[in-house]
Amino acid sequence: MQSLIIPMESYLKRRHTFAQHMQAGIAIIPTAPERIRNRDAHYPYRFDSYFYYLSGFTEPEAVLVIVAKTDQAPERHILFCRAKDKEREIWDGYRYGPEAAKETFLLDETYPINRLDDIIPTLLSNQPIIYTMLGHDSAWDQRIMQWLNQVREQVRTGIMAPEKINDCRGILDEMRLIKSDQELDVMQQAANISVQAHRNAMQMTKPGQYEYQIEAELLYTFNRHGARSPAYTSIVAGGSNACVLHYVENNAVLKSGDLLLIDAGCELQGYASDITRTFPINGKFSSVQKDIYQLVLNAQAAAIAQVKPDNRWDEPHQAALKILAQGFIDLGLCQGNLDSVLESEDYKRFYMHRTGHWLGMDVHDAGQYKQQGEWRRFQPGMVLTVEPGCYIRADENVAEHFWNIGIRIEDDVIVTENGNQLLTATAPKTIVDIEELMQ
Ligand code: GLY
Ligand code: MN
Ligand code: MN
Repeated sequence: MQSLIIPMESYLKRRHTFAQHMQAGIAIIPTAPERIRNRDAHYPYRFDSYFYYLSGFTEPEAVLVIVAKTDQAPERHILFCRAKDKEREIWDGYRYGPEAAKETFLLDETYPINRLDDIIPTLLSNQPIIYTMLGHDSAWDQRIMQWLNQVREQVRTGIMAPEKINDCRGILDEMRLIKSDQELDVMQQAANISVQAHRNAMQMTKPGQYEYQIEAELLYTFNRHGARSPAYTSIVAGGSNACVLHYVENNAVLKSGDLLLIDAGCELQGYASDITRTFPINGKFSSVQKDIYQLVLNAQAAAIAQVKPDNRWDEPHQAALKILAQGFIDLGLCQGNLDSVLESEDYKRFYMHRTGHWLGMDVHDAGQYKQQGEWRRFQPGMVLTVEPGCYIRADENVAEHFWNIGIRIEDDVIVTENGNQLLTATAPKTIVDIEELMQ
């Protein structure tokens, strides 16, 4: 599959928008460090999302600097990156180096990363504010303080040191929350790959297999389509394991008569997808499984219907809760009436998480959920998940035929001008469609 690539002009435009929001000062934004797994083996490298959002640059050991325009000087976009190194490139592969990076990533200036300590204090001189990520990495916080103190030491020469440090994420989170059409195209592509992976997983699942064999199918499909990493650790949870919300052991055998819950999504070009489907391991829902499954599906439909401009973040969750709580009463899982079950939160014995989160470069993406103490309103271009569920553990207070049913149904939803659009609509989820695919 040919991947859509976000053009470099878009990254340049983001940097410019960010600089305009800064108004004045200098932003210093590092990418993520490489992490040792054991001895000299590293974890697979993943750049920092904020850094990548503004640069498109995927190499480690890089720092982006953006200097806002002043009356005397224009805006500047500066990248520090690894120098070209013939020897290292024989071992580790191609690196851009400052010269090629400048041209490719449309930067004003580029320097080798080892010049950071001598150039940054100069760049900080006479700037009123530093924007960076604070409290994200203590080694980075210390470096910022060292550079700041170096500038402060020169104040008697007439240089002014920044008086404020702001967290750059305040501006960037709001920018990242509203996706451009290009970002939505990439997210659609990521979603398509994940849908294909879920379809394949449904088709290959049989009693007697191990959860990790299904996980292997998911990862295989991601990779085959160029999505080289899952966006988060896949959950492949048969039977009672589905009632462990963050189950990732994925090493149990799958039993006929049980359900299988799969929560898995790939990352493509830095963008996540996040899908959950739950289906019967033997291909046929039992009667009680159908009852609970249809309830969760109805709750999801009610929640998705609330995703539209001007509705508030909490409305999908409240809509799902109403359906679920009433269903729990009708099935005898909760006692009382709808108001009393919602009021007492008795439904939390079976539904204990919220109904979604922002989705983007990070699976739990950037963006505030409340503004001035109120749940924020949906706007076109926001992307979220809608993922109600029901988890019934073996419990003497619950009729035994319900035990060990764990169900979640999760889709990725764009807020559009008129309502919403599903990125993951083609992953089967009605009882009829699932049973048909599994034939
Ligand atoms: N897969 C993580 C989540 O659904 O939030
Ligand atoms: Mn999710
Ligand atoms: Mn998920």
